[in-house]
Amino acid sequence: MLPKGNFPAKVFLNGEIVTSENATISVFDRGFLFGDGIYEVMVQLENGIFYKKAHLDRLQENLVKIGIEYQVSDLEKEIEPLLIASGLVDQPSLIYMQVTRGVAPRKHSYPKGTPATVMIYAIPFQMPYINQKNMHAILQTDFRWHRCDIKSISLLGNIMTNEAAMLAGTDEAALVRDGVITEGSHTNIFFVKDDTVITHPANEHILDGITRKIIVKLCQELNIPLVERGISVEEIPTMDEAFFTGTSTQIASIAQLGEHTYHEPENFGPITRKLQEVLAALKEIDTSEVTL
Ligand code: PDD
Repeated sequence: MLPKGNFPAKVFLNGEIVTSENATISVFDRGFLFGDGIYEVMVQLENGIFYKKAHLDRLQENLVKIGIEYQVSDLEKEIEPLLIASGLVDQPSLIYMQVTRGVAPRKHSYPKGTPATVMIYAIPFQMPYINQKNMHAILQTDFRWHRCDIKSISLLGNIMTNEAAMLAGTDEAALVRDGVITEGSHTNIFFVKDDTVITHPANEHILDGITRKIIVKLCQELNIPLVERGISVEEIPTMDEAFFTGTSTQIASIAQLGEHTYHEPENFGPITRKLQEVLAALKEIDTSEVTL
């Protein structure tokens, strides 16, 4: 029996579409035992799945990074039937996908020839045209490992820092490693200084978000200078604007970061506002086959 909550109507699990109630796996699944798997989140909008190809490419790249032999093209074929079964064809929705190394006796080294466990679900999800939220964020030590580039289902560092943000009555935690802000607990972070956009380099200390990649590309197209470097905690008050990005967050202006206030409610910075508008315009077209 599932507890009360907003579970999806249907789940695709290992070749079958079942109810959430019947979507069960072995306790010996390596996802359950070790957090040994990769996940991906994307959204379906009016004009198709937003940057579907970019998300599926990232899923494939991450599976290769951790040596799970699974072809994401097999999973892609299951998305439409799942949306049909879930009553979400052409409906705004959030699609969650997860691939683990499958079921094997507990042993750290990778088992050979074990079929991956593949799960997808979709739930109704309405994104605002532009995220108008004034985000308040706390600073938290980034105590995660040194492979944050891997979209691992092991998210303990992310959920612990996010929980600290919730307990503080804020929206997000900005993570600080060696005095430098890396990213949010479930978002990337950007700053603006003298009309230049600044974000942490896409290295092993952050997840290279699809939204981040879109913004990097948009800045090039709009001739907005962009620098990839980490901003130190001391620099926070010297920045003009700051915003978080993510698939469901889109671009969310940061009103307050730690002790520093960037803006009063609704008074978003001009570059943040501009990028929000351009990102929103991308939702009016079909981006499902665009690569990043
Ligand atoms: N979070 N950084 C981290 C640590 C993330 O977990 C995410 C995404 C991002 C933004 O990535 P993208 O723009 O590709 O969504 C950055 C997802 C959505 C989640 O865990 O639900």
